[in-house]
Amino acid sequence: VLGWFYVFPAYRLPSDKEIVEEVLGLGEAWKKNQTGIDLYRNLLTECCNPRWMFAVTKENAPIGKVLWYDGEYYYSHTVNNETYSVFVQTTPLKPLKKCAVVGNGGILRHSKCGRDIDQADFVMRCNLPPLTKEYLEDVGNKTHLVTANPSIIEKRFQGLLWSRKAFVDYLKAYGSSFIYMPAFSMKPGTDPSLRAYYAVTDSHSNLTMLFANPDFLRNVGKFWKARGVHAKRLSTGLFLVSLALGMCDEVTVYGFWPFSIGLDGQPISHHYYDNILPGKWFHAMPEEFVQLWHLHKSGTLRVKVGSCQ
Ligand code: CDP
Repeated sequence: VLGWFYVFPAYRLPSDKEIVEEVLGLGEAWKKNQTGIDLYRNLLTECCNPRWMFAVTKENAPIGKVLWYDGEYYYSHTVNNETYSVFVQTTPLKPLKKCAVVGNGGILRHSKCGRDIDQADFVMRCNLPPLTKEYLEDVGNKTHLVTANPSIIEKRFQGLLWSRKAFVDYLKAYGSSFIYMPAFSMKPGTDPSLRAYYAVTDSHSNLTMLFANPDFLRNVGKFWKARGVHAKRLSTGLFLVSLALGMCDEVTVYGFWPFSIGLDGQPISHHYYDNILPGKWFHAMPEEFVQLWHLHKSGTLRVKVGSCQ
C-alpha cells in the first residue's frame, strides 16, 4: 500500500492532521530491513564518510588546510598551530550497534522513553538539552555525544568571557561524552567554540570537545537536498541521524516531531522543555520528517513517536 510519501507530490507537505493520521494508521508496526540499512550506510559513506569526516581531526585537517565555512560564503579558516592543537588526533568513533538519536521535540513529554533511550549503545542529543530529574523518565540521561551551538555559548554563558563555572557545571549532566560544536560553520562561531574548548579542557573534565568538519556538514546538506530537503540549512537532528546511519547497525530516533499537534490531536509544545519556536530554519523540519518517516517505513531506521510503554 502506498503511503502519503508517494501520494503527495514533493511540493505539498501534508498537513499536521494528515501526518497524525498517517502515523496512527501504521501504528507500532516496524520491521528492520537490512538491505535498506546497508544501502543507506553505503550511500552516506560514499558522499560524506561520516565516521572519518564528521569532526575535524589532525588527520583530515592538517596545518595549512583551508576549512571553508559551510554556513556562509567566501569565508575560510586556514588551520594554524593554534587550531591544529585543539583537534583530536583521529576519529574517536567506532562502528556501533544500537544508536539512539534524541531530538528535542515536545512529543517526548510524557513518552516514558527514558529507559529505551538509555538502553542504546550510543546516545546522541542536540543542543545541550536539559537532562534534569523531571525529564529523566521521558528522555533518560545517558549521553555519548551532544551538540552545542556557539550561539548557546554566547547567549546562555556570556560567550564565556566572564565566568566559566556555570558552563562547566552545566556540562556535568553529560558525563564523559563528546561535545560536538559547529566551530567552522559561521565565522562568528569559531571564537566561542575555542573558548568552550579551553573552558572544558582547563577544567580537567572527562568531556571531549569535537569540532564539526564543515566539509562533512556541506556534503550531508547536499545529500538530503538531492532527496527533497530544500531548506537552506539542515536541522542539527538530521546531521546526527546521518552520522548514525553511517555508523550504527540500528538507529532509533526520538523527539522528532515538528508539528503543532500530538498523536491525540491536542496542541503540543515545540520542545520537551519549553515552547520557544525556532526562527527562520523551522520550515526545514517537516520536510526532514517526511524523509525520516520514509526511512521508517522502509525499515532503515525507526522513528519513535508516542509512548514507549
Ligand atoms: O537547533 P535546532 O532548532 O535545529 O534544534 P532543537 O530545537 O534544539 O532540536 C533538536 C533537533 O530535534 C532539531 O534539529 C530537529 O531535528 C528535532 N526536532 C524535531 O524534529 N521536532 C521538534 N518539535 C523539535 C526538534
